Amino acid sequence: MRGVPNFHHSYIFCSVFSVLILFPQFSISANTMSATESLTLSSNQTILSPGNVFELGFFKPSSSSRWYLGIWFKAISKRTYVWVANRDSPLSSSIGTLKISDNNLALLDQSDKPVWSTNLTGGDVRAPVVAELLDNGNLVLRDSNNNDPDEFLWQSFDFPTDTLLPEMKLGWDLKTRHNRSLRSWRSPDDLSSGDFSFKLETRGFPEIFLWNRESRVYRSGPWNGIRFSGVPEMQAFDYIVFNFTASNEEVSYSFRVTKNNMYSRLTLSSTGILQRFTWIEAVQNWNQFWYAPKDQCDEYKECGSYGYCDSNTSPVCNCIKGFEPRNPQVWGLRDGSDGCVRKTQLSCDSGDGFVRLKKMKLPDTRATSVDRGIGLKECEEKCMSDCNCTAFANTDIRDGGSGCVIWTGEISDIRNYVEGGQDLYVKLAATDLG
Ligand SMILES: *[C@@H]1O[C@H](CO)[C@@H](O)[C@H](O)[C@H]1NC(C)=O
Ligand SMILES: *[C@@H]1O[C@H](CO)[C@@H](O)[C@H](O)[C@H]1NC(C)=O
Ligand SMILES: *[C@@H]1O[C@H](CO)[C@@H](O)[C@H](O)[C@H]1NC(C)=O
Ligand SMILES: *[C@@H]1O[C@H](CO)[C@@H](O)[C@H](O)[C@H]1NC(C)=O
Ligand SMILES: *[C@@H]1O[C@H](CO)[C@@H](O)[C@H](O)[C@H]1NC(C)=O
Repeated sequence: MRGVPNFHHSYIFCSVFSVLILFPQFSISANTMSATESLTLSSNQTILSPGNVFELGFFKPSSSSRWYLGIWFKAISKRTYVWVANRDSPLSSSIGTLKISDNNLALLDQSDKPVWSTNLTGGDVRAPVVAELLDNGNLVLRDSNNNDPDEFLWQSFDFPTDTLLPEMKLGWDLKTRHNRSLRSWRSPDDLSSGDFSFKLETRGFPEIFLWNRESRVYRSGPWNGIRFSGVPEMQAFDYIVFNFTASNEEVSYSFRVTKNNMYSRLTLSSTGILQRFTWIEAVQNWNQFWYAPKDQCDEYKECGSYGYCDSNTSPVCNCIKGFEPRNPQVWGLRDGSDGCVRKTQLSCDSGDGFVRLKKMKLPDTRATSVDRGIGLKECEEKCMSDCNCTAFANTDIRDGGSGCVIWTGEISDIRNYVEGGQDLYVKLAATDLG
């Protein structure tokens, strides 16, 4: 009885094998590459994820002479790269090989020199390792006998390039010590690390900054339980669920798509625009769902300290009640970046009080302290009793608000919204409260 199926199996095996030999551009048998297999540029081989959602292979942007190893969507008709292995060390000729060498995934050039490697050292890997492309677009290196995501030896999701896919995380993980951020391409044809990056700052009341080289250019604002304080239009959509986690083990932002065959990505363009796209099957194209920075008021510190930006006033910069322009001449010329100063110094006693500003993007949270265990009343007391405290707010706006964040020193990069935002309480001297 057993001979027949065995014969049958080897027959199928031989057929598949000869198909692979005769048509080398066919994908590697499954979504995995074993230690004895390799992917060569000249053969046009690729690795497909199990449900044919993503594909890993070599590519060259149309007007470039550089070759890259990367991942793109297989399931959609418009070629869209979501990850690049060797962005800063492209292959200069159309000869290249991806293989597993010394339990590492390595990309070799025409002289068999590694131009890119997963660079794992030592470890006690016993079983042979395999590389596998998963259906969420994650390229992983793992022990061939171990499928546990917590024990992957390496994963591309820990090294994002310019794109955040569903299930990928931005931010920091204590266990793996990875601190993941996005970095733009230099240009549409040069995928090397560009000037713009999007990084989650993990201390205090975490928020994400967009950087242009060494300068901050845009700030998401902190997570308020529902959305980032500076992204008022962010809400739970029918099919996209956002997740922000801040604990001792990780501080991360991610999103999930809850509908099959729906594709969404967050990409940092080479010109420094954050864009969320969703794929529209009917028109076979990506639709821009959201982008930032959006307007003048999104520009970092547009109105300096104690100023706030209102895109419906002219000029856009305004001083918070109780403050006046630090430099009236420049302010008059519509440069608000010098900000505002207090009209009356605080007395640092119970005579001081608070003005409530509604629908605000919370100020830069780098000089804050957070206590999620207390409410607004205790928060006010805490700010009142600290002479250096200048403002306070709830950390979570759900269910009427909870938690406490207090700012010490100057507050900056504040704006208001027509819809969204939250209450911010700023400390003023009694005479300015009026
Ligand atoms: C690989 O693809 C290129 C472009 O599509 C084609 O010119 C070339 O002949 C292919 N090579 C093989 C070995 O199939
Ligand atoms: C691997 O290590 C080499 C040599 O230290 C380094 O140049 C390269 O950037 C590393 N590759 C990755 C992907 O980190
Ligand atoms: C992660 O990176 C960000 C941006 O560079 C930095 O501000 C933050 O402190 C880092 N977090 C940790 C825990 O290293
Ligand atoms: C959000 O992320 C955390 C940490 O990764 C995870 O434990 C949690 O289950 C996620 N929540 C949702 C609703 O997906
Ligand atoms: C307030 O700020 C001053 C000057 O920065 C500092 O010396 C002092 O220790 C601070 N006080 C408190 C209670 O933090």
